[in-house]
Amino acid sequence: MPLLQRFKHINLKISTLTLIFIVLTLTTVLWSLSFHDPASPYFLLLKVASLPKKPCACKRCISELGLSPWFDERFNQSLSPLMTKNNSVLPEDVYRWWLRLQSEKKPADFNEVIKKLFEIVPGQDIYMDWGASRCRKCAVVGNSGNLKGSNYGAEIDLNDFVLRMNHAPTIGYEKDVGSKTTHHFMYPESAKDLQNSTILVLVPFKTLDLQWITSALTTGTIKQTYFRVLSRIKADKDKVQIYSPQFFKYVYDNWVENHGRYPSTGMLTLMFAIHICDEVNLYGFGADSNGDWHHYWENNRLAGAFRHTGVHDADFEYNVTMLLAENGKINMFR
Ligand SMILES: *[C@@H]1O[C@H](CO)[C@@H](O)[C@H](O)[C@H]1NC(C)=O
Ligand SMILES: *[C@@H]1O[C@H](CO)[C@@H](O)[C@H](O)[C@H]1NC(C)=O
Ligand SMILES: *[C@@H]1O[C@H](CO)[C@@H](O)[C@H](O)[C@H]1NC(C)=O
Ligand SMILES: *[C@@H]1O[C@H](CO)[C@@H](O)[C@H](O)[C@H]1NC(C)=O
Repeated sequence: MPLLQRFKHINLKISTLTLIFIVLTLTTVLWSLSFHDPASPYFLLLKVASLPKKPCACKRCISELGLSPWFDERFNQSLSPLMTKNNSVLPEDVYRWWLRLQSEKKPADFNEVIKKLFEIVPGQDIYMDWGASRCRKCAVVGNSGNLKGSNYGAEIDLNDFVLRMNHAPTIGYEKDVGSKTTHHFMYPESAKDLQNSTILVLVPFKTLDLQWITSALTTGTIKQTYFRVLSRIKADKDKVQIYSPQFFKYVYDNWVENHGRYPSTGMLTLMFAIHICDEVNLYGFGADSNGDWHHYWENNRLAGAFRHTGVHDADFEYNVTMLLAENGKINMFR
């Protein structure tokens, strides 16, 4: 190639490169500028890419923040609803508050009681497993007479977890309340035998309750609290869980706002579900269509006297469940 031609060729190459460089620079500058222009498609792209990821795999997630200031102000996902080997040392204020719940005369040494308890039951935390791939649907089934004739049974059983409390029977009531129970919440005075597949969640109101569950799963020596209780209980001890006193106080402070002496088992169970599930369906809370408060397995309307026992504030608690539903956090079935 003659020298001049070669030179031209190189020159052409250089100018092509320069052109490409200039075009790239310009595009980049324009591109980055347009990210700040709300009318530009780049702006939209950036916005979508920077949206927070959904915290679960359900259509809606309870733990998604930013949808309800009322909820966000109260909700604390970092608290475990369970007392475990890892968190059984209670903060002093929690312990003192919890001791006053039922004013036990001479409580046994808490640390000793816990040590014995966790020799019998696992004391592991298995619920801090939330994440973008989990969609855990839960039914919390209260004991209200409004379940009678509801036909909710099949729907309730479709949930991953079905949480019940106290005496709640299912046999003979399957059509309305379902037959599945994954978690049964109780204390010594409301205890009943369970199937092996059901997790017993002990709600402790006093030190003796923690001693009772240890005893009821082993020696059966404790037969009495403030009245006669089951000395032995049928339940899989490897599945027993203990409701955390710290979480108990959190429910009282943040959710029930210190109304009543302490929250009802229903409220404690609902809050447990809200912290371990991604979707919560609530059944059997509140009065029946006649405005009566009684249990679905009782005909006696006078049994409804439990509403104003002075221990719980049923009206305030009911308002909290209504607000949870209005804020799109739970589905309430009546
Ligand atoms: C949530 O609970 C933890 C543990 O008690 C506490 O350290 C934290 O401050 C709480 N967060 C909020 C926002 O209250
Ligand atoms: C206690 O916490 C440690 C560290 O956070 C963890 O490795 C361990 O598995 C936990 N133990 C239980 C019983 O939850
Ligand atoms: C429940 O578990 C106990 C103890 O492991 C066992 O003896 C019993 O057969 C089980 N019952 C059923 C119905 O599986
Ligand atoms: C519950 O909500 C109703 C309606 O907003 C209100 O009138 C009532 O005072 C509330 N009850 C309690 C105990 O806060």
